[in-house]
Amino acid sequence: MNTPINDPSDLMALGQRHLWGHFTNLSAVQRLGLPIIDHGDGAYVYDTDGKRYLDGLSGLFTVNVGHGRPELARAAADQSEKLGYFPLWSFGHEPGIRLAAKLASLAPGDLNRVFFTVGGGEAVESAWKLAVQYFTNIGQPNRRKVISRYYAYHGTSLGALSITGIPAIREPFEPLFSWAIKVPNTSQYRCGMCAEQNACSLDCADEVERTILREGPETIAMVVMEPVQNTGGALVPPPGYWKRIREICDKYGILLVSDEVICGFGRLGYWFGCERFEYQPDMITFAKGVTSGYAPLGGVIVSDRLAAPFLEGESAVFLHGLTFGGHPVSCAVALANIEVMEREDLLGNVRRNEAIFDEVMESLRDLPFVGDVRGCGYFRVVELVKDKATKQSFTDDECNWLLRDELSPHIYNAGLICRADDRADPVLVLSPTLVCGEEELRFIGKVLTDALTHAATAFTNR
Ligand SMILES: Cc1ncc(COP(=O)(O)O)c(C=O)c1O
Repeated sequence: MNTPINDPSDLMALGQRHLWGHFTNLSAVQRLGLPIIDHGDGAYVYDTDGKRYLDGLSGLFTVNVGHGRPELARAAADQSEKLGYFPLWSFGHEPGIRLAAKLASLAPGDLNRVFFTVGGGEAVESAWKLAVQYFTNIGQPNRRKVISRYYAYHGTSLGALSITGIPAIREPFEPLFSWAIKVPNTSQYRCGMCAEQNACSLDCADEVERTILREGPETIAMVVMEPVQNTGGALVPPPGYWKRIREICDKYGILLVSDEVICGFGRLGYWFGCERFEYQPDMITFAKGVTSGYAPLGGVIVSDRLAAPFLEGESAVFLHGLTFGGHPVSCAVALANIEVMEREDLLGNVRRNEAIFDEVMESLRDLPFVGDVRGCGYFRVVELVKDKATKQSFTDDECNWLLRDELSPHIYNAGLICRADDRADPVLVLSPTLVCGEEELRFIGKVLTDALTHAATAFTNR
């Protein structure tokens, strides 16, 4: 089926018949169809009718340099012509080597060695396997467990899903790995830990230590967390959290993995979120923004200390591989993508516009249903509550109606793509492309203001 389909309704019918979307309700697609995006340009995408939308989610936290970049397309085409594929299994290729060196130069401290994957979940799972094999190599074979936070999303393959803490997407596949332990996240709006105290005492971090002691420190290989957790809604940790987590890991000889699949490559105004929060991880997992989605790529940046045992002797091979991990075309695209970020100072753009984004988000606070606004860099959410005074949330039916029947269509029709997410408490998630400036950020504020104001009236008259 190589001929283009020019009639949007034919395309829709074909999609309804054959396409199986990810985390997509197929019966809703049969009834209602699905939005089909045709092309993109900068901060915007266009549907098959030519209607323009501000891409307020960067595809899926991915298209950091914006859409329609000819230099990224050229990098892919040039590399395909030169060497379309070769594995990194006992071979190297130029884009893979250059990208590994580039990432090592961008990553903090002694994170100097890169293991490539195809995507983010594989990166997380690779980090876990690497941690387990590292500890076996240094004579601590009982260290197999991994600690992550409730509701955090780290991928969907069975290993990564064990680390993921979202009950709804885990339950159909349980039992998962029992070695994957969960600890509280850092919801400052709904903290159930320090809520009775006058100020945050970092009890959420202390619970990590209590969990380690309960499980047995000698059984824990690694702690994996996002700098700012996505699920639950851009959960920015309280001051001091990361310092405490690093200290706890060091105290018990546990590896700290910063899952930067979303937070890396400028999302928080830095190459990596750990720089913003000033902690040094032992591994960084990345994907998405490394290529801005123009080609699939992920990986793990590993410290020299961790790689050291693998540099000694024949038996120390990391027993893990993926045919397409570090695909040469993807690596060439990543190099071009990083070049664009540097040339256009996109990290600086995020930092310069943060105050405007703060102001836009704060202006939403007094609107109906807005319980909290939070986040940093170009990663923000609005948390929705039924009762602002008590923080009472909606019933499942109300939430479904509010997010799916009311807010999502209203926002989309107004020309903005963002994400309504109720895998934890309901939030509207914003993660615009890093090329956005004041005009686009204020547009986001305007659309959300209209949508929430309309929703309040519609909720009463429902
Ligand atoms: C923090 C984090 N880790 C891992 C993943 C999984 O990445 P992928 O979908 O590329 O497997 C995601 C995906 O959104 C993510 O947000």
